[in-house]
Amino acid sequence: MKVYWDKRFESKEMVWGEEPSRTVNHAMDVFASYNVQTVLVPGSGYGRNTRHLSCHFSVVGLEFSKSAIEMSKGWDEKTRVIECSILEPFNLENKWDAIYCYNVLHLFLMEDRMKLIHNSMKQLRDQGIMYFTCFSDQDQRNGRGSVLEDNTYEYKEGKAAHFFTEQDLIQHFAGMRVIETGLLDEEIPSSETETEKYSLRYIIVQMV
Ligand SMILES: C[S@@+](CC[C@H](N)C(=O)[O-])C[C@H]1O[C@@H](n2cnc3c(N)ncnc32)[C@H](O)[C@@H]1O
Repeated sequence: MKVYWDKRFESKEMVWGEEPSRTVNHAMDVFASYNVQTVLVPGSGYGRNTRHLSCHFSVVGLEFSKSAIEMSKGWDEKTRVIECSILEPFNLENKWDAIYCYNVLHLFLMEDRMKLIHNSMKQLRDQGIMYFTCFSDQDQRNGRGSVLEDNTYEYKEGKAAHFFTEQDLIQHFAGMRVIETGLLDEEIPSSETETEKYSLRYIIVQMV
């Protein structure tokens, strides 16, 4: 996977453009209503979304692609990015008020999805909030390519995705209080002239 992502970012182009996801504004509203000051962002990429979060909160990103980290330094000076794998225990000293994780969870098979969620939970303070987005079962890519696990396909060569129903997503976060779930459609640039449509799900949960 690291090879795939290093290659994806090596051109130093902003592969999903400069505009943040709509979920960033939603997350910021929710975080503000829970008095969030600090936000941890696993799989922060080149900072497309952290740039907006870091205008309002103290933000730390976790990312394993050196190219993405280099790009984020120029694009989002306020966010500190730590080079690490989010599938290994984070081992950070602080506990965070909130975690925002955009379109990373669906990239992994079951065992690694649970690692990401448990690693994130360990880094959250009591009553802390997590906002995760992922591919939904409504997405046009669902069912394409070879089956790797239940509802998980190699939909592009060398790239897996898990497609979440609402129930499945809630089950992944068992033990946390579910504040809200929802579906949203997003159109994301895939090159300078083209965009791709995605049907995403989000979940907002609280540590109890
Ligand atoms: C689909 S991109 C999303 C990027 C970012 N969240 C955004 O919204 O722009 C997935 C990101 O997760 C990173 N990533 C994937 N697996 C990782 C891992 N095991 N450890 C750290 N980062 C990882 C990739 O390098 C990439 O930047």
